[in-house]
Amino acid sequence: MSTTESAPLLTVDNLVVEYPSKKFRAKPFRALTDISISIGQGETLGLVGESGSGKTTLGRAVLGLAPVTGGKIIFEGKDISHATRKQRRTLSRDLQVVFQDPYTSLNPALEIGAILAEPLGVQGMESVAARKRVKELLDQVGLPSDAIHRLPREFSGGQRQRVAIARALALSPKLIVCDEPVSALDLSTQARVLDLFLQIQKDTGVSYLFVSHDLDVVRHISHRVAVMYHGEIVEQGPAGVVTTDPDHPYTQRLLLASPVPDPDRQEQRRADRHRLLENQQHQIEQAGAVA
Ligand SMILES: Nc1ncnc2c1ncn2[C@@H]1O[C@H](COP(=O)(O)OP(=O)(O)O)[C@@H](O)[C@H]1O
Ligand SMILES: [Mg+2]
Repeated sequence: MSTTESAPLLTVDNLVVEYPSKKFRAKPFRALTDISISIGQGETLGLVGESGSGKTTLGRAVLGLAPVTGGKIIFEGKDISHATRKQRRTLSRDLQVVFQDPYTSLNPALEIGAILAEPLGVQGMESVAARKRVKELLDQVGLPSDAIHRLPREFSGGQRQRVAIARALALSPKLIVCDEPVSALDLSTQARVLDLFLQIQKDTGVSYLFVSHDLDVVRHISHRVAVMYHGEIVEQGPAGVVTTDPDHPYTQRLLLASPVPDPDRQEQRRADRHRLLENQQHQIEQAGAVA
């Protein structure tokens, strides 16, 4: 993390996203309400929350792929909330993405070398330099150099995700939006790919907006964590605090719902969860009795 008092790399300020309704004259659907976050250089903000809470929408809004209805998105001091297509093309050098599913995010007809050279070509790099950069990228993500001539389907899920990461890194971006990038992988592959994300950050100083529904994953990778619930951020703070001793009842439930490897601790969790739910039920009933 930057030690100077410089402005954050990304600031999202009271962002509202509404999707138009498909039904005639129906009100639009408000997916995000008053979202404010910031990410410093070399920092990871973890975004956690159950399915449908709006995590992907927030990542897509930053990338210019979701409609910004209100508020602002500031990247390196510039308002990019309504960037034009041309401005987005320039921005794509600094702002990249890794999606959840490496099976659909890589063109199955292209060899890995061509997949990685594509963003380089778009930005005008000549082919000798591009070939050199592709080799560097494969090395950086722990893939052998003969991967250049192979197709995505010849690789495992974890290796494909390494290709997707290499492609995101090709132009040395400043921020990568990672949307559930390890969720489709088995546990031991998850751990190795997460370590790769950490190593890359150490080497390059890149920042991550790291989306996951899994509190354990987010705890491992993040400096700070924001918790989303029904399109709003209900809690945000240092990763260690939010993921182990959260303030908000929703985060407490999320924490108690995440599985732990140790059966005794799992049993304790179950008891805690039961107590928490009874407490909350009690509070709701009390509030009802007063009203
Ligand atoms: N393109 C879209 N059009 C309409 N509604 C959408 C669209 N994308 C997402 N939504 C809705 O917005 C809400 C948040 O979705 P999403 O951002 O995908 O959540 P998450 O990534 O946390 O699962 C959901 O209710 C979802 O149905
Ligand atoms: Mg999602």
